Amino acid sequence: MFQNTLEYAKKLDAEDSLASFRNKFHLPKNENGEELIYLCGNSLGLQPKITSEYIAEVLKDWSHFGVEGHTEAKHAWLPYHEFLTSTMSKIVGAKPSEVVVMNTLTTNLHLMMVSFYQPTKTKYKIVVESDAFPSDKYAVESQLKFHGIDPKDGLIQWKPRKGEELCRFEDLEEIMKNQGNEIALLMIGSTNYYTGQSFPLKKITELGHKHNCRVGFDLAHGAGNIQPNLHETGADFAVWCTYKYLNSGPGSLGGCFVHERHANNENLNRFAGWWGHNKKTRFNMRHEFDALPGAEGWQLSNPPILSMAAIRASLDTFAEAGFENLRKKSEKLTGFLEFLLDEMKNDSINVITPRNPEERGCQLSIQVKNADKNLHTKLTEAGVISDWREPDVIRVAPAPLYNSFEDVFRFSEKLKDVLKNLT
Ligand SMILES: Cc1ncc(COP(=O)(O)O)c(C=O)c1O
Repeated sequence: MFQNTLEYAKKLDAEDSLASFRNKFHLPKNENGEELIYLCGNSLGLQPKITSEYIAEVLKDWSHFGVEGHTEAKHAWLPYHEFLTSTMSKIVGAKPSEVVVMNTLTTNLHLMMVSFYQPTKTKYKIVVESDAFPSDKYAVESQLKFHGIDPKDGLIQWKPRKGEELCRFEDLEEIMKNQGNEIALLMIGSTNYYTGQSFPLKKITELGHKHNCRVGFDLAHGAGNIQPNLHETGADFAVWCTYKYLNSGPGSLGGCFVHERHANNENLNRFAGWWGHNKKTRFNMRHEFDALPGAEGWQLSNPPILSMAAIRASLDTFAEAGFENLRKKSEKLTGFLEFLLDEMKNDSINVITPRNPEERGCQLSIQVKNADKNLHTKLTEAGVISDWREPDVIRVAPAPLYNSFEDVFRFSEKLKDVLKNLT
C-alpha cells in the first residue's frame, strides 16, 4: 500500500526505471525558473528535447536539396509517413497495414464516416456516448444531416443513469436490443475526455457487429494512454490525435485505423486524394484512382513533413520507454494520486473516474462540490497546470513519460491548501 509522505513519493521515483525519461522533456517553468507541476498531458503533451533535432533535420534537408528532398533527404519525404507506422501500430495494437498518420482527428473522423456510415431508409441511426467531445458530436450530427436525417431522430446518446456519472455497458446492450435494427454505426470515444472512463472496446465492437452495425472509436484520450488493442477488438475504424499523450505538438497530425478486413474493400465509399493512390503509378498523373491497400489508401494529400518529424521524435521516445512499461508505471502513478485524494477525507471532492485501473487511463476527473473556476485559477497560481471543465471538474493526468510520483504528491498538497482556503 502507498504512504502519504514526500519521502515515500521520492522513494517511488528512485525505484522507477522510467524516471530518467523526465529529463528528455522540456518542463514548463514559472517566471522564477521553477518547474511547474504539469498534469495536462490529456490536453497537450510536453515537448521531447529531441523534437527540435528531428525538425532541424527536415529544415536542413529542405535548404540543401529543395524539391530533391522528396527522395534525397536523410529521411526521404515521399515515404516519410511510413517511418511512423511501425511504432504507431504498436501503440494502438494494430497491424502496420491498418494504421496511417494523416490529417487531423476530426477530418479523419469525417473520412471514416464517409466510408463506414452508409445509412439506409431503415438502418440509419448513430450511437455516441453522452458527453462525447463536441467536435465528435458536430461531426456525427453533420453526417446525419448530410444524409438528410434529422439528428433529433438519428442521434442516440448512451447516457449514464440518473445520479450517476459513468456509462454502463448493460445500458448500451439495452439500446441495441431495442433499436439495433435501426442503428447503422456506433461511434464511441475509447476514453471519455470528461470522466476519464475507458470503455470495453472489444465488447462494444462485438455487440455492434451482432446487430450488423459498423463500429468506430475516437482514441483522442486513449492513444498513448491505454492499450486499445485495435486489431483484436475487430473495430471497423478508429481515429486519434497525437498532441495529447503522444507529445507531438499543438495541432499535430492524427492517426487512423482501418481494420484489415476492409483493406481492399471496393464497396466502401471513399473520398480520395492522390496520396491514397498506388505508389507505383502516383506520379504518372493520368491513371484512374487505384487505392493503396489498407489504411494508407485513405490518405488525401502529401503530408506536412515538419509536423511528422515531431511525431517521429515522440514515437522514438515512446519506443525507447516501451509501452508496457509505461502502462505499468501509469497505473501506479494514478493509483498513488487516487490514494492521496482518498487520504484527504474531504467530502467536497469526488473522483468520478472509475476506480478500476482497467476502466481508465492516467486521468482522474475530480468533481469539487460548490466550486467554480476560481478553484482552478488558485491551483494555477500555486504552480499547477491542470484543466478545468465546467461545471465543477478538475482533470489531472499524470503522464508516465515525464511525470513523477513527487509531482503527484506536490499536487495533492497544493489541492489540499486550495480546498482549505475555499471553505
Ligand atoms: C475526444 C476528442 N475528439 C475530438 C477532438 C478534436 O480534435 P482535432 O481538433 O484534432 O480535430 C478532441 C480534441 O481535444 C478530443 O479530445
